[in-house]
Amino acid sequence: MKFQPTAILNNGLEMPLLGLGVYDMYNKEAEQAVEWALETGYRLIDTASMYENELQIGNAIRTSSIPREEIFLTTKVNDKDQGYDATLKAFDQSLELLQTDYVDLYLVHWPLKATRKETWNALEKIYETGRAKAIGVANYLEPFLEELQTYSEIVPAVNQVEFSPFLYLENLKLKCEKLGITLQSYTPLVRGLKMHDERLLNLAKKYEKTPAQIILRWNIQHGVSTIPKSSNLLRIKENFDVFDFAISDEDMMIINAFNENFRVVDDPMLML
Ligand SMILES: NC(=O)c1ccc[n+]([C@@H]2O[C@H](COP(=O)([O-])OP(=O)(O)OC[C@H]3O[C@@H](n4cnc5c(N)ncnc54)[C@H](OP(=O)(O)O)[C@@H]3O)[C@@H](O)[C@H]2O)c1
Repeated sequence: MKFQPTAILNNGLEMPLLGLGVYDMYNKEAEQAVEWALETGYRLIDTASMYENELQIGNAIRTSSIPREEIFLTTKVNDKDQGYDATLKAFDQSLELLQTDYVDLYLVHWPLKATRKETWNALEKIYETGRAKAIGVANYLEPFLEELQTYSEIVPAVNQVEFSPFLYLENLKLKCEKLGITLQSYTPLVRGLKMHDERLLNLAKKYEKTPAQIILRWNIQHGVSTIPKSSNLLRIKENFDVFDFAISDEDMMIINAFNENFRVVDDPMLML
């Protein structure tokens, strides 16, 4: 198996820094993508109840030759299932669809104002049972983390947020580091919208890599876990081929300065 860097979460659990995101893929396509990813060497798969493909992800993992304990599996509670009892029920449903008796990471998908507290309390309960090896949040910008601190007993292991060179959330990254929360970037490839950025193309040429590989490597060198989505075999392989080069400190700073607060997903601040 190819070497890949990992993060040690605040409870000691080891998580690969690079994983496959499986949003917007369904049925056979989703199953096939996970099969290809596992064959390529990916050991982190990021799904969600909302993606309606937990069954297919479970199929691919179950039928692969890789032992379940070597795969880091994340899923998330759907907005419609938030609240204490509903979350507990939704978690059971996710395990059933995923055909596993535990997930490695269970996340609050969105910080819904009315229910995020009870939802977090339910995640803490689930964590106590051992059926989620770690729990965390998604879309928690600084004010949400501060609020969470007022009622949580467990510090989230992971905060999964939209993050890319074009949305470089440096303060959030520093805050997570201070709190012992591992930052994970979603939509790292900006859904392909920035692949023709001239500066990115120049760096790709310089390092003899693709724009996607430059972005993913930038995440990894920041110590940020990242979960690019692809259901195309060549791009699944391309996105994993980022462990044989390093971006210089100077170029890392140049990429940091690409920031233009560019989002493709709703701003979580709307939930405050
Ligand atoms: N927690 C949350 O609220 C949240 C929100 C959004 C996403 N996520 C997670 O983050 C994952 C990634 O985000 P995302 O799927 O929204 O967007 P993304 O990973 O930034 O971009 C995916 C798009 O880029 C294309 N692509 C993949 N590799 C490429 C490459 N090497 N070169 C050019 N284009 C490439 C894909 O097409 P092909 O498939 O055809 O390759 C797809 O259209 C999701 O799958 C999901 O797991 C979480």
